[in-house]
Amino acid sequence: MGETAGSRAVSLNSHPAARTFSGTRCSVSLVLWSLVGCILMVHFYSLIPQKDKGEIRIGSSHLSVTRELEEVEEENLYLPPPRGKRSPRAVKRRGPRKPYSVVDEFLDESSELHALFFPDRKSAIDPNKRGKDSMYYYPGRLWLDTEGNPIQAHGGGILFDWRTETYYWYGENKDGPTYQAHRRAAARIDIIGVSCYSSKDLWEWTNEGIVLSGEGTNATHDLHVSNVLERPKVIYNDKSGQYVMWMHIDDANYTKASAGVAVSDSPTGPFTYLYSMRPHDFESRDMTIFKDDDGKAYLIYSSEDNSELHIGPLTDDYLNVTRVMRRILVGRHREAPALFKYEGTYYMITSGCTGWAPNRALAHAAESIMGPWETMGNPCVGGNKIFRSTTFFAQSTFVVPLPGLPGSFIFMADRWKPAELRDSRYVWLPLTVGGVADEPLEYNFGFPLWSRVSIYWHRRWRFPEEWQRTT
Ligand SMILES: *[C@@H]1O[C@H](CO)[C@@H](O)[C@H](O)[C@H]1NC(C)=O
Ligand SMILES: *[C@@H]1O[C@H](CO)[C@@H](O)[C@H](O)[C@H]1NC(C)=O
Ligand SMILES: *[C@@H]1O[C@H](CO)[C@@H](O)[C@H](O)[C@H]1NC(C)=O
Repeated sequence: MGETAGSRAVSLNSHPAARTFSGTRCSVSLVLWSLVGCILMVHFYSLIPQKDKGEIRIGSSHLSVTRELEEVEEENLYLPPPRGKRSPRAVKRRGPRKPYSVVDEFLDESSELHALFFPDRKSAIDPNKRGKDSMYYYPGRLWLDTEGNPIQAHGGGILFDWRTETYYWYGENKDGPTYQAHRRAAARIDIIGVSCYSSKDLWEWTNEGIVLSGEGTNATHDLHVSNVLERPKVIYNDKSGQYVMWMHIDDANYTKASAGVAVSDSPTGPFTYLYSMRPHDFESRDMTIFKDDDGKAYLIYSSEDNSELHIGPLTDDYLNVTRVMRRILVGRHREAPALFKYEGTYYMITSGCTGWAPNRALAHAAESIMGPWETMGNPCVGGNKIFRSTTFFAQSTFVVPLPGLPGSFIFMADRWKPAELRDSRYVWLPLTVGGVADEPLEYNFGFPLWSRVSIYWHRRWRFPEEWQRTT
């Protein structure tokens, strides 16, 4: 069934509009430019303060907020000369042998560059030390919870729970030793479980404990410590009143390639593990779930050896997929999907597939969540060229909508440290939607003109004080 639905999406993908319209490219571009003109006029008009009550205040305060978040910060990176010797524990990158690069240097735990990107505990973000750093995000620094321990919520996602007016951050607890299962395997840690942290302001996080634990004794269980649990995400089902968690379940060699499901009556667990499956009978590795405004939820997962993504609606209880599935971004080899919606358009950030090594992010957009999805280019702004080509040395995991700040989001990413996975860091940055996209002409020949998704590099940033995060 998935095959039939999928092949339709494939044929769309392999049928570039450019070819169909090649004979009339001239007139098409004329139409396009007039369209751009129109849109710019409409855009400028919308910037002129309108006389409607309340409109001006909201509009201008939003503008001043995003102006601050959209400041472009440059970074001068000092690159030490390449050294002959590398640490024997330095992580080898997958794929064909490439010249020694900045990314290798970054992954080599004995390098100066490595230390720069993983600063020690002295500079940790500490909610108990308020003062001048209060409410500031420092991407890449250690981040402590209210008890003073480093937050363990990797590959995570955030649920805003309307019932308790609280944010819950779920992620992989990786607080164990990093090792290789065998000589050719990737660095791993045993399954400890899914951590949950709660917060009212998205900055000060209280540890709610492990809400889904690894299984110590039963070796055939999906959650046996020797297996893999990655990218847990939780959504609330309004009909059943249950919190539903989906996650990537795998064996140490990543051959099981399944999606697991767990449920709880409370956002802080404990979650009951139900089962894993291969959705639509396909491999499923990196994944996320997305709950739409109408209460319908979707599973998005990397499949076919990570060469494409699949998307399909969940059943009404969110505990299974339905028979409907579309293949998207076919042949593009994307993973780590993070999906969000703004003004009726769906957006997604993905990464390339290079194991623990960072790579270039891409932003995608779609009118309908089931596709077709168009690729809009690299959303990263600021830093420097290397920062932008490595997603600021991190990998996407989630995009948090901010109530009361339309068009502004938090981009959540993981700066993996394969030599010591528990010490991987969080890179949170402001993400905004607006302006004209870089690469909008894939197969809709310019209709519609998507808004650009931008992730702005900041060494240090915060939201404006006046913004109340739970309103
Ligand atoms: C071990 O896990 C499997 C799979 O979940 C289950 O079927 C089996 O009953 C479990 N065995 C024990 C002894 O709990
Ligand atoms: C993983 O692969 C290695 C080497 O191919 C093999 O020895 C090991 O048994 C495999 N482990 C699992 C859990 O499949
Ligand atoms: C999920 O749905 C499929 C049919 O779409 C069915 O074959 C499968 O048994 C269901 N899985 C569970 C765990 O209910």
